[in-house]
Amino acid sequence: MDQQSAPVPALPPHVLIFPFPAQGHVSSMLKLAELLCLGNLHVTMLVSEYIHSRLLRHTHVHSHFARYPGFCFRTISDGLPEDHPRAGERVREFFASLKSVTRPLLREMMIDTNCFGTETRRPVTCIIADGTMSFAGDIAIEREIPLIYFRTASACNFWALFCLPELIEADEIPLKGNGMDLPVKSVPGMEDFLRRRDLPSFCRVDDVNNLQILKAESRKTLQAQALIKNTFDELEGPVLSQIRAHCPNLFSIGPLHAHLKARLASDPMFSSTYSSSFWEEDQSCVTWLDSQPSKSVIYVSFGSITIVTRDQLMEFWYGLVNSGQRFLWVMRPDSIVDKDMESQIPVELVEGTRERGYMVDWAPQEEVLAHPAVGGFLTHSGWNSTLESIVSGVPMICWPYFADQTINSRFVSEVWKLGFDMKDTCDRVTIEKKIIDLMNVKKDEFQERANQMAKLAKRAVSKGGSSYCNLDYLINYIESMIK
Ligand code: UDX
Repeated sequence: MDQQSAPVPALPPHVLIFPFPAQGHVSSMLKLAELLCLGNLHVTMLVSEYIHSRLLRHTHVHSHFARYPGFCFRTISDGLPEDHPRAGERVREFFASLKSVTRPLLREMMIDTNCFGTETRRPVTCIIADGTMSFAGDIAIEREIPLIYFRTASACNFWALFCLPELIEADEIPLKGNGMDLPVKSVPGMEDFLRRRDLPSFCRVDDVNNLQILKAESRKTLQAQALIKNTFDELEGPVLSQIRAHCPNLFSIGPLHAHLKARLASDPMFSSTYSSSFWEEDQSCVTWLDSQPSKSVIYVSFGSITIVTRDQLMEFWYGLVNSGQRFLWVMRPDSIVDKDMESQIPVELVEGTRERGYMVDWAPQEEVLAHPAVGGFLTHSGWNSTLESIVSGVPMICWPYFADQTINSRFVSEVWKLGFDMKDTCDRVTIEKKIIDLMNVKKDEFQERANQMAKLAKRAVSKGGSSYCNLDYLINYIESMIK
């Protein structure tokens, strides 16, 4: 055929993905980005300069994504100096800076750059914005670009936040510190097990005015044409049905880390994954695990944002050592309030740790949870950690710190029955007892349920499974948006 008259293949849709700049959000959105690349879409991943420099320093994310010619990174400022903690008490400054600095920059970017279009890429045809940054959605609407929100936390968290107007109306929130064990009646589907203390931690305010932003933000999800959730129908089906009544285009495509692995495994060209950690992963803990008996180790990690006081740290440490169990503990260097504590550690803790414990600043968590020596997870109940534990069939002890974690932990203990919820307590006797119960007394009971749920998770992301099909529908949906 004459080359000149050969049909020009149509350019694929071009998706702009914009995550909230924190570990759990960026990790899951990078996984989504790769899944969309595997579906032959073009993807621009817009991350903060700060996050981008951490990814460059600690991961091979660039060389990994080089295999997808349709993928590129773009960066934007989060408005904070390099040494700002972006965590703990100062997380509010982070949100404020995103609104005052990042928002106008994004608006400018979307106008100036022909919406990231080039000769080989369409201008952006769809924005997938983190649902916690509705300002990105506002800009998409201004620019008349189709919008999908991705709320990276659990569906149960989203649904409880969605019900804030009803919760306020019924005077069930704001939580004033008392009546925390009263049942919550205004979140449909959760009446039988949800207590006030299990509501997302942002409900723990005295004044209803402090809930207005949150209330508006959760309803703003309805601005978007569709909603993506990193969960699966077999885990959160009833909650997803409640949400679908308001957002019919709801795509539950998780657990994303397992989904990506499953899709990569079926393609020998692309069969490796990569780490997206903002900290250097210490692989020595895997070597240590290699020499421990099967299911004998409790893995302890409180994620990327949690900050503990010295007193809390000591309670955990005594609880772990006194339990007599082996433990692997991630102690992020920036996670302890009192920096000057090295010299003050009691000798019995040092001894107990030398005998049965191992500590690292940051671990390759997915690999650790999948290791045969790991039999339990003492976790802050961050959503990614929860899903990773579920996929690996590891029972949990939950010590939620904030946000969605307070409701995730209730689901772990009361709905899925995969472990204990230890929220709002932090004493060495309780910690010791929960560890012994999880690792010994109730080990078989929890392990059986964890195995069962792990099977369901894996089935959901296998060919023909619920999340697998939903991802295909999502890709078709994004394609239909340009027609
Ligand atoms: C918090 C939330 O609680 C979460 O639900 C929300 O969606 C985002 O903000 P975070 O503290 O980062 O997130 O917890 P989590 O969602 O569990 O994510 C932590 C990630 O870091 C996990 O993917 C985990 O595998 C990884 N991690 C953690 C490591 O790779 N190594 C570690 O040592 C610790």
